[in-house]
Amino acid sequence: MQTAVVTGGNRGIGYAVCEALAAKDYRVVAVSRDPAASAPPDVEVVQGDLASRRTVNALAVALSERCPTIDVLVHNAAVWPTQLRHNEDGIEESFAVNHLAPFQLNLALEPRLRRVVQVSAGLYVRGRIDPERTPWGKDFDPMRTYCDTKRANLLMVPMFARRWQDAGTTIDAVHPGVIRTNLGDRGGVQGTLLRLFKRLWPAAATGAAPVVRLAAEMQTQTGTGRYFNIDKEQPLPQEPELVRRVWDQAWELTGAR
Ligand SMILES: NC(=O)c1ccc[n+]([C@@H]2O[C@H](COP(=O)([O-])OP(=O)(O)OC[C@H]3O[C@@H](n4cnc5c(N)ncnc54)[C@H](OP(=O)(O)O)[C@@H]3O)[C@@H](O)[C@H]2O)c1
Repeated sequence: MQTAVVTGGNRGIGYAVCEALAAKDYRVVAVSRDPAASAPPDVEVVQGDLASRRTVNALAVALSERCPTIDVLVHNAAVWPTQLRHNEDGIEESFAVNHLAPFQLNLALEPRLRRVVQVSAGLYVRGRIDPERTPWGKDFDPMRTYCDTKRANLLMVPMFARRWQDAGTTIDAVHPGVIRTNLGDRGGVQGTLLRLFKRLWPAAATGAAPVVRLAAEMQTQTGTGRYFNIDKEQPLPQEPELVRRVWDQAWELTGAR
């Protein structure tokens, strides 16, 4: 039986991904901040918080103890920040959860990984990362920061693909579509309007489908380092200097270097 680990498996797209992978006979481990969170039937829950270096490190230890091999790791959890908050390392919350946490987990778990699927967002195209400011939220704006963190995270995918080429571990990223979940929910007039709009959007299972398709591709291993807009492969931005800078900075901020 193959093992799949899904972050943010307690609700939204992550919950639907867990459900679909369990139906495909994977042993599914959902990472959730709340250990008592509901999970689909036959899905194990591991408590884990992606908020800081310390908590991600603790999660890596817990996953290593539970899973000698991780056939597929789905980085699904993310935050759309509605206000500026810093973690215990002084890093802006969504930069830590959306970008640094998957980076740190990839490195901590790499000996046991066979395949990684990064849930991305088409809005990455609007991201403009400023390595001097973005990690600390000095240029914070809810929409901009979400896009910045998703771009930083996505730019790491081809870097990990290259790093893992000899080991045979593959990694691809996917935008799941615009989906009705609680992502970015907020109060006020904007929040009410957003909730109304969301009624028109497809349910979580629709967003899970392209993620699950990529996750299950490991047997065929048709590629690595790719980005899919739902089911369509698209080229990634070519900005090697920025990519190298963001990569080196992530090593430093996660304490890997
Ligand atoms: N929905 C869309 O239209 C859309 C579009 C493009 C991309 N995406 C991407 O799809 C993925 C799933 O999003 P969603 O729409 O399903 O969002 P969601 O319903 O808001 O779910 C987010 C998940 O991330 C978890 N999470 C947040 N912070 C965490 C932390 N510090 N530690 C551990 N888990 C944490 C949440 O756990 P808690 O329950 O503990 O908060 C929740 O399980 C994200 O990567 C998002 O960027 C979504």
